Amino acid sequence: MPTVYLDHNATSPVPPEVVSAMVPYLGEHYGNPSSTHRLGQHARLAVDNARRQVARVVGADATEVFFVGGGTEANNLALRGIIDRARLLRPARRPHVVTTAVEHPAVLAACERLEARDVAVTRVGVDSSGRVEPGQLERALTDETVLVSLMLANNDVGTLQPVAEVAQRLAGRNIVLHTDAVQALGKMPLDLHALGVDLVALSAHKIGGPKGVGALVVRRGVELEAQICGGAQERGRRAGTENVAGIVGFGRACELIGADPTGRVETMQRLRRRFERDILDRVPDARINGAQGLRLPNTTSVTLPDIDAQALVMNLDLAGVACSVGSACASGRVDPSHVLLAMGLTEAEARATVRFSLGPQTTAQELRRAVELLQETVSMLRALSAEHDERVRYGREARSVDPSTSNSALTDGR
Ligand SMILES: Cc1ncc(COP(=O)(O)O)c(C=O)c1O
Repeated sequence: MPTVYLDHNATSPVPPEVVSAMVPYLGEHYGNPSSTHRLGQHARLAVDNARRQVARVVGADATEVFFVGGGTEANNLALRGIIDRARLLRPARRPHVVTTAVEHPAVLAACERLEARDVAVTRVGVDSSGRVEPGQLERALTDETVLVSLMLANNDVGTLQPVAEVAQRLAGRNIVLHTDAVQALGKMPLDLHALGVDLVALSAHKIGGPKGVGALVVRRGVELEAQICGGAQERGRRAGTENVAGIVGFGRACELIGADPTGRVETMQRLRRRFERDILDRVPDARINGAQGLRLPNTTSVTLPDIDAQALVMNLDLAGVACSVGSACASGRVDPSHVLLAMGLTEAEARATVRFSLGPQTTAQELRRAVELLQETVSMLRALSAEHDERVRYGREARSVDPSTSNSALTDGR
């Protein structure tokens, strides 16, 4: 039986329509978009067409879309580009950035790098659903604040942040508002001008596009310094010959989203609601993280007390369900998710938490199978751990009765 793929927040399968749009640009249409001959101009037209496709799906103008090498680069360009600009304009001042404790590492690590370059950074906390309180964020602003970076939707839990409300509170102040919309794209309607943001980071591979391509949408009039220097590609904001096939795939993936903007969201929402109800009904002590109605329609973060999430993910994989421990960027490491900790979960709870993320192709049947396998795997792991605890206790009791048996009792208990 094929694997039930419930890890769309890590990456998404690339549909055949996207692959077939890309293939010619890996073969016959190999021109460099900067070349003036026909081959080059063919590639240029393809890149510009993709720019319009990306712009359309987020309510931006094509001139506001700058292609980069993925969501991480888009976030880095936004943060560092704005700070470098502020430094150029006000060299004697120490710029200040306000962000949150639950951002993706692409933002958090960029902020750490900025701190090392004498930039002040405030990380605002979140409530138990993972949401920032706009008033608290506003209170963190100072006269030196040049940038606020607030993600639209969280990758671990799916929590939506009050970006539009923060934009209203920033109106009239000379502060750039950046949002990491990598997880939001394709999972909720997006209109960047209606949201009132200045910079938006996007990534292709979360929406059925290829990996290694993304975009920073820069509202007209907002100036930032390029971080990769070289040629004049992307109107000087991101040097380097364009990843033409990747960009074409990104554009086509956006077009596919745009063809049914609400239908796919509603379907995921309906399936996810049933999925969560089934988990709560069938898996004892399961708890869903984040607030209902304030989360992405596809993301379920579930805490399963007494379960080691890493072991659960491995066993579910063997059983035929792909899901993840917190975010993919953190998997492979044993650290508990910083997002869950910021929401007030204990370390033990965070280590007992797994993330399921649905995609537009996910079916009700797949979700029923996933719940069955989750129920079986959780009870198997809990039985093993109860047996283990029992053996350890038996070993301790045996030792306390007769110290001479302690070694064998302990060995038996392992
Ligand atoms: C919220 C968020 N921002 C940024 C990124 C980084 O995007 P990319 O993988 O394209 O570098 C991710 C990827 O997981 C993400 O979930």
